[in-house]
Amino acid sequence: MTEQHHRLEQRKVRFDFADTPLHWVPNEPEASHIMNTLHILLPAGEFWFCKVYNKALPLVTDERLRDDVRGFIKQEAQHARAHDSALQPYLDRHGINSKPFTRRLSWLFDKPLGELPIGDHALGRGLKHWWLLQRVGLIAAVEHFTCVLGNWIITTDKLDNADPVMIDLLRWHGAEEVEHRCVAHDLHVGLGGSMVMRWFYMVIACIALTYLFSAGSGMMMRQDPATRRSPGFLRLWSRLGKRGFLPTPGSIGRAVGRYFAPGYHPRTEGDVNVALNYLANSPAAQRAAAELQAMA
Ligand SMILES: [Fe+2]
Ligand SMILES: [Fe+2]
Repeated sequence: MTEQHHRLEQRKVRFDFADTPLHWVPNEPEASHIMNTLHILLPAGEFWFCKVYNKALPLVTDERLRDDVRGFIKQEAQHARAHDSALQPYLDRHGINSKPFTRRLSWLFDKPLGELPIGDHALGRGLKHWWLLQRVGLIAAVEHFTCVLGNWIITTDKLDNADPVMIDLLRWHGAEEVEHRCVAHDLHVGLGGSMVMRWFYMVIACIALTYLFSAGSGMMMRQDPATRRSPGFLRLWSRLGKRGFLPTPGSIGRAVGRYFAPGYHPRTEGDVNVALNYLANSPAAQRAAAELQAMA
C-alpha cells in the first residue's frame, strides 16, 4: 500500500466517438486495431475484476486496503463502461462486427472464470476461498500489465496527433491504472498470495493476454481491407514497437522480469504524479468534474 494514502475516485467520464475514424492513429491501421482490442476485451474483463473483488472485499480487514479496493472497483467499472461505449458508435459504425468474439469472452469470464467453474456444482467453503485467491492472483498479474501499458500511453508523444477522443479515453484509463497500481498486488498479498503464485499467474497472464490480443486484433484486421494482409501478431507488434506506436517487446519483457523479482512492489512502476497531472488535464475528466460540481 502507498505510504501516503491517496484516495481513489471514480471519474464519470463520457466519450463521443461520432467523428472518430477507424484508423484513429493516422495512417497506422494496424496500431489502431491492436489498441482497439481493448474495447472488446475490457468490458467483460474489467466487470469480471469487479465481481471478483466484490467477493474478496468482505475478507479484507485492513481499513485502508478496503478503501482502496472499493475505489479500485469503482474505477474499473467506469473503465469497462467507457470501452463498451465505443463498441456501437465506433466499431459497429465502421463495419467491424465484434459480437461473436465478445460473446465468447463473456462465456469465459462467466463460466470457467466465474463462481461455478465446474458446472453447476457449488464449491465447498475451503475450495471457494482457494478459487477466489487464484483469481485475485491472476488479476494482480494482469494489473501489472495495465500499469505498464498505462504508463506508456501517458508518457509517449508518438500518439499526440491521434484522434483526440480516442487518445483521451486511452490516456484517462492508463492514468487511472497507474493511479491504482498498488491495489491488486496489496490485495493478493493481504489475502495470503505467495511469491510462487505471483510467478505462476504472471506466466498465465502472459500466455492469455498474448492469445487474446492476437485473436481480438486479428478478428478486426480481417474485417478491414486495409489490414487483411498484415503479418502475424508478434511480428507486427515488434515492427510497431520499433517505430514507437506500441511499447517495444523488449520493454514489456523487462517489465515481466521485474514482476519476478522477490522484492517487487508496484509502487516503483510509473509515476503517480504524471498520471494525476494527465487526469487534471484530460478533457473527459475535466467535463466529468464540472458536471459533478454543477450537481453539488
Ligand atoms: Fe482498468
Ligand atoms: Fe486497473
